[in-house]
Amino acid sequence: MTQDELKQAVAQAAADYVAQTAPAGSIIGVGTGSTANFFIDALAAIKDKYLGAVASSEATRKRLEGHGIAVFDLNEVTDIPVYVDGADEIDGGLNMIKGGGGALTREKIVAAVAGEFVCICDESKRVEVMGKFPLPVEVIPMARAHVTRELAKIGGRPELREGFVTDNGNLILDVHGLAITDPKGLEAAINQITGVVTNGLFAVRPANLLLLGTAAGVRSIR
Ligand code: A5P
Repeated sequence: MTQDELKQAVAQAAADYVAQTAPAGSIIGVGTGSTANFFIDALAAIKDKYLGAVASSEATRKRLEGHGIAVFDLNEVTDIPVYVDGADEIDGGLNMIKGGGGALTREKIVAAVAGEFVCICDESKRVEVMGKFPLPVEVIPMARAHVTRELAKIGGRPELREGFVTDNGNLILDVHGLAITDPKGLEAAINQITGVVTNGLFAVRPANLLLLGTAAGVRSIR
């Protein structure tokens, strides 16, 4: 199976899971990235059962609307039974690195409101210790140099994502060289640096369910 076929299989499994668990008339949280895009396409087939979706990025909003799925402002919504999104890395505790597409802050906000986080990815994303994938950190532009120095102090090699501006008008520093043995502690520590909006570690709020695409089929891991 190709990587895209694995992504498509987990996206369909997630749509099936949503159809079974999310009450009719509810609003679904939708992530960002190539795997989430396959999920949006699968969600379109069951869209009549739901009121609509909350999007974690402008790209996702556009794709949802392209399928005729209503997109709600998060401030108008109190209950999101389930949020479905991909990841760049995921460990055995279902902690994740996200933000390869730069949407980490909005993803974290929608995930914070959701009852359940379902992570969908192919098996290449599953790791023992996170950190090979550079950790994205969203930064207020005027704090770029300060945050870069502070991230170096904790042992990382931050690199500015050239030519990239987030949906919130900020910058991304991709931090290389971290071996993330304490994801929750590192997530909190980086978020304490003044000028950081948030970082791409999802450990304080990890996934509740991982649907992992493997050559042998989709595995459900809790
Ligand atoms: C977007 O900012 C990310 O958090 C994505 O969820 C993550 O990069 C996974 O993307 P793919 O599904 O494209 O690998």
